[in-house]
Amino acid sequence: MQPVFDLTGERKKDFAAGLLAWFERAMRPLPWRETYDPYSVWISEIMLQQTQMERGVAYFNAWMRLFPDIPSVADAPEEAVIKAWEGLGYYSRARNLHKAAKIIIQEHGGAFPRDVGAIRALPGIGEYTAGAIASIAYNEPVPAVDANVMRIFSRICDIDVPLTHAGVKEFVTSAVRSLMPEDSPRLFTQALMELGALVCAQKPDCPACPLA
Ligand code: ADE
Repeated sequence: MQPVFDLTGERKKDFAAGLLAWFERAMRPLPWRETYDPYSVWISEIMLQQTQMERGVAYFNAWMRLFPDIPSVADAPEEAVIKAWEGLGYYSRARNLHKAAKIIIQEHGGAFPRDVGAIRALPGIGEYTAGAIASIAYNEPVPAVDANVMRIFSRICDIDVPLTHAGVKEFVTSAVRSLMPEDSPRLFTQALMELGALVCAQKPDCPACPLA
């Protein structure tokens, strides 16, 4: 698997610069982008896992009115948390949020953990979600590789094996890590997600691509 672009030197800077300049123009004004506090980023990432953006934003806003912070989730009865999730499906996400909020109160003094290993250890948080929270909320250089990011790299690197093939995920993860600018992991992670949603979608809009 040879990348069609050079992952080093000036080309590497061009990749990030082009992507970030596009993101500044194209980014959607999403509610968790107003503060990037870890609680908001966490809730948004869990909601968006199996939910369309428009619906995710509506549920996010309603959720924040009911549960404005981690203690309000931890203290709520499980039925209240499940009720706020009603209509989103995949209820294990809500049950895990509730369990994780209790763990954050009991084991992290009520503050969302910053260390990516501690984030990953919370119920309902896998490798992708831990990377998304670490990079978006804390601006840490941790890759977040989901199906959208895999699709982007399979196209720009001309990966011609199935994306489930051994090694492909590791290849994409190391490409993302190598391209991520030290000073803007938060913007870089979101820019890749936004590109996958708006341009490099299932049906790509190649003329609009900032990486072309
Ligand atoms: N999809 C998953 N997480 C996202 C985010 N933070 N912004 C946009 N799309 C997303």
